Amino acid sequence: MIFFTMRQNVLHVENVSLVDIAQRYGTPCYVYSRAALRFAAQEFQDAFHAQNTLICYSVKVNSNIAILNEFARLGFGFDIVSGGELARVLAAGGDARKVVFSGVGKTVEEMEAALNAGIKCFNLESAAEMEALATTAQRLGKQAPISFRINPDVDPKTHPYISTGLRENKFGIPLKDAHPLYRRARQMSSLRVVGIDMHIGSQITDIAPYREAAQKLVTLLDVLEKDGIALEHVDIGGGLGVRYRDDDHPPAIADFAAMCREIFSERHEQLILEPGRRLVAEAGILLTQILYLKPGEPRSFAIVDGAMNDLFRPALYQAWHPVHQVTITNVSDQTRLWNIVGPICESADFLAQDRQLALRQGELLAIGVAGAYGMAMSSNYNSRPRVCEVMVDNNQIFEIRKRETVASLFSEERIPSDKNQNAC
Ligand code: LLP
Repeated sequence: MIFFTMRQNVLHVENVSLVDIAQRYGTPCYVYSRAALRFAAQEFQDAFHAQNTLICYSVKVNSNIAILNEFARLGFGFDIVSGGELARVLAAGGDARKVVFSGVGKTVEEMEAALNAGIKCFNLESAAEMEALATTAQRLGKQAPISFRINPDVDPKTHPYISTGLRENKFGIPLKDAHPLYRRARQMSSLRVVGIDMHIGSQITDIAPYREAAQKLVTLLDVLEKDGIALEHVDIGGGLGVRYRDDDHPPAIADFAAMCREIFSERHEQLILEPGRRLVAEAGILLTQILYLKPGEPRSFAIVDGAMNDLFRPALYQAWHPVHQVTITNVSDQTRLWNIVGPICESADFLAQDRQLALRQGELLAIGVAGAYGMAMSSNYNSRPRVCEVMVDNNQIFEIRKRETVASLFSEERIPSDKNQNAC
């Protein structure tokens, strides 16, 4: 959180006070530091500069076009999982030739859009998907660049909902099936075999599972090469964790890069990475205001205007996010244990639990490390308009997404007429 600092008892993002942002744009509101985004991007670029590497920002993590544009201008590629994400990348000025397309359920329409845009690679996850892509590419008179996503069956030691590289997960193809599939793909004239891919999970805080999985890929690469199947790139996915709380110890990017150098040192293929969280998590906070305090036994609740629809991670994964008070007024105030909860009618609607704080009605809170999978996973549950997003650059503020209006929430809905004549 180095770009979020306390100055004269007020939390600032770069050189802007969060109190000013709340006054101008209202709450709840996501606030990002542009310097933090650039800092994280630079860290990756520095760590990998000696290797032939393409860093593909994983769009799902935070897909605001201002953020995509930031990475596009720094030369990044993109990891997408839908036609919607492809459209965003192109609208943001991203280069289609640096786009890899992941996901187990690409539709024919999405394949067509990606083929027409001329993406770098389709990461295929099943034989059936390979057949569908081959047919689609043939129909369009194109050759689709492909890799297979391998499921290396390693345990990334993270939350079960975000583990993806175990045999029981829906992702990728088993190692033992890979060679026959590559052989089959090689024979298809509308496919061009260019790479190999993996992604073992997210919020990974240990390098060991990466090493184990990457070694399995190298063994497979040797087998393929002996069979005359030479690849252009190896994509090792995303997943590097961040520090949500003090006892999280995610690996340094430089150490991760050193591991990659060691494993792939004898290889000639380009290395592709698909980081997401590590690039944007610490660049963002969710700014929210306390509506009411409800002290009591056995729990005390601080009811804020932000809710699980704005930041779903605590409800979905019991994720822990730091809570910062934006203004410190009286340090001698009595503290107590608070649950920070939203107005939604669900007991899972909490942003934080059991925080020892001295809180006041009306004060502002910043929910930290919220730049990743925050806004991107937000919804309109309870007919709550999605919040606005602002990006701060030094002392400038850019509103990069306006707060939704209530009217827009149901503008696409229709009441059926009483007469049945116009029904379709
Ligand atoms: N590549 C692929 C194929 C992915 O599925 C993902 C994330 C990434 C890259 C980026 O992973 P990262 O570097 O951000 O860990 N909503 C969950 C995380 C879901 C991860 C989905 N896949 C959360 O809030 O923790």
